Amino acid sequence: MQDIERRIQELREKIRYHNYRYYVLNDPEISDAEYDRLFRQLVELEQAHPELITPDSPTQRVGAEPKEAFAQVTHRQPMLSLENAFGPQELIDFDARLKRYLNRTTPIEYTAEPKIDGLAVELVYENGRLTVASTRGDGYVGEDVTPNIKTILAVPLTLMEPKQGPPVPELLEVRGEVYMEVEAFGELNHERIKKNLPPFANPRNAAAGSVRQLDPRVTAKRPLNIFCYGVGEVRGASFETQMEMMLTLQQWGLRVNRQYIKLCKTIEEAVSYCEELERIRETFPYEIDGAVIKVNRLDLQHRLGEKSRSPRWAIAYKFKPTQETTKLLRIDVQVGRTGVLTPVAHLEPVEIGGVIVKRATLHNEDEIQKKDIREGDTVLVQRAGDVIPEVVMPIVSKRTGNEKKFVMPKTCPICGAEVIRKPGEVASRCPNPNCPAQVKEALKHFVSKAAMNIEGLGDKLITQLIEKGLVTEPADLYELTKEDLLTLDKVAEKSATNLLQAIEKSKKTTLAKFIYALGIRHVGEHIAGVLASHFGSIEALKNASEEEFMAIEEIGPEIAQSIVSYFQDEENRRQLKRLLDSGIEPEAPAKLAESPIADKTFVLTGTLASMTRSQAKEIIEKFGGRVSSSVSSATDYLVVGESPGSKLAKAREKGVSILSEEEFLKLIGGGEHE
Ligand code: IVH
Repeated sequence: MQDIERRIQELREKIRYHNYRYYVLNDPEISDAEYDRLFRQLVELEQAHPELITPDSPTQRVGAEPKEAFAQVTHRQPMLSLENAFGPQELIDFDARLKRYLNRTTPIEYTAEPKIDGLAVELVYENGRLTVASTRGDGYVGEDVTPNIKTILAVPLTLMEPKQGPPVPELLEVRGEVYMEVEAFGELNHERIKKNLPPFANPRNAAAGSVRQLDPRVTAKRPLNIFCYGVGEVRGASFETQMEMMLTLQQWGLRVNRQYIKLCKTIEEAVSYCEELERIRETFPYEIDGAVIKVNRLDLQHRLGEKSRSPRWAIAYKFKPTQETTKLLRIDVQVGRTGVLTPVAHLEPVEIGGVIVKRATLHNEDEIQKKDIREGDTVLVQRAGDVIPEVVMPIVSKRTGNEKKFVMPKTCPICGAEVIRKPGEVASRCPNPNCPAQVKEALKHFVSKAAMNIEGLGDKLITQLIEKGLVTEPADLYELTKEDLLTLDKVAEKSATNLLQAIEKSKKTTLAKFIYALGIRHVGEHIAGVLASHFGSIEALKNASEEEFMAIEEIGPEIAQSIVSYFQDEENRRQLKRLLDSGIEPEAPAKLAESPIADKTFVLTGTLASMTRSQAKEIIEKFGGRVSSSVSSATDYLVVGESPGSKLAKAREKGVSILSEEEFLKLIGGGEHE
């Protein structure tokens, strides 16, 4: 029996250790399969000896029965909130205020870190064991959500005694933010929409909804995570600085945002870090709505004390919001390059993240129906970086009864052709390849930067070229004369010459860009790159069979079919021939065998010193490699520039080879001399 008890203890400790490596340090030592084996062994032993099960065993995370209601928990120390700063000046003012208060002229040292957009919780550890976990509530009294929090694998059920460093204290109240990653949130909403459940508005609501679940088995299915950022009452340990405290929490097994907590010698340093975080906010796998600045020295924190609702020693630098509510005036239907009809919301103009938004995509008919978005609704609109704004959901409580449901038109709003929607597809399409809307979109795509990159040929000029009958397909561009261009509005001698030069210049391009420019359905930039390095010429690509495409790892049946049917189409073959006859010479990637990076997948992060990202991408593709936007197990190399984003951690986690800019150049250079 003692042997079994010992074995159980051993297994528990191993599992805890590997949890720590995986969730807290982001640096696992064993494979998932090995971990699962350890876990199964423990489950089996505990099943055979239920009397040996303890509540802090790693097997006891899920399983508690649903509750009727949450019990209340009074926080030993109130959980305060933070004062907000909007813009750098308010941070400078904050620093000046503190210096006055402390009667000091020398710089104050701060820590600065991302402000996670989730929900605040408190974890109480007594003698190293998690006893209570609660929500913030009104700051004084929260809800007891212990069984739910225990399902979060990044929350240790027992703390670890560090080999070096302060021992685990008698009492530790840790505060942190529970959140859901953006990708997981998207998947959860996708599932919910499929099941006709209302989607969550944002990851924060999804996290909060998941924690405040009466049934912990539901919480357990939600991919939640936590970052700890501070403490409440602590008995049996003390720290000198905020930074030391964070590092110690990590040593005890708690997850802190180590990578992004920065020690700043002055407020100016903190300001520029805040600005940097705002710039790179989209690269985080989770949402951050600001940065938190904290006085580093705890004795100074103590002297500064708190006001009624917030501490004087910390402040939140708020980023520009990415969601706003506004009125949806009407829904129009646009026809895209491939004939897909996309409903577009026309909105009462609203500023989101510094940009005025007037239009937002609604994706497709089903999406509108599922989200129940109606004309006249007040809606939540979201904008992320360069991505097209989207309507997240209607604010149903604001309805007046005058809202109008949307129906997809039966005929194309541009050419009048009868719209088709194939069974199993969400998209409605205009089947007419000569539909002016399709022609225009195809041309816009063809000249765009990632395709043929014809500078100066914007939307308005394209519209004119089509209306005047000068251009009906891409190849017509290469037959334009100066006289043709001079007939256009707002085009004079000089701009006509420039335009002709840009068109001429576009003839020298890469095979990948040319393939992408053709606008084959399902062939985006990435797949175009894959095809270019695999086939090496248009000729080879044109004649390849569906099986040949399917033999390429990243190409599934849908893409394969689409490419084959594109090249089987007589009209497409004719247009392609005209393009090649006009003198376009797509340059094939370096011979596969000669290039050290042939068929390798790269991801770029941070700012490179010697080239822009698109230049780096071009070089990689030229040598037969590919560039992808996110790190996965298919990634071969991560190239790291200045101030890398979260991709670095992910690459480490996945064991992807990491290259500095110099190493990257060497690798490419090596290929050139071989
Ligand atoms: S420190 C005295 N650090 O923001 C409060 N808070 O608006 C000290 N939050 O209630 C909070 N990330 O829920 C701190 N890195 C971070 C944070 C953070 C998110 C939340 C927290 C707090 C709210 C204040």
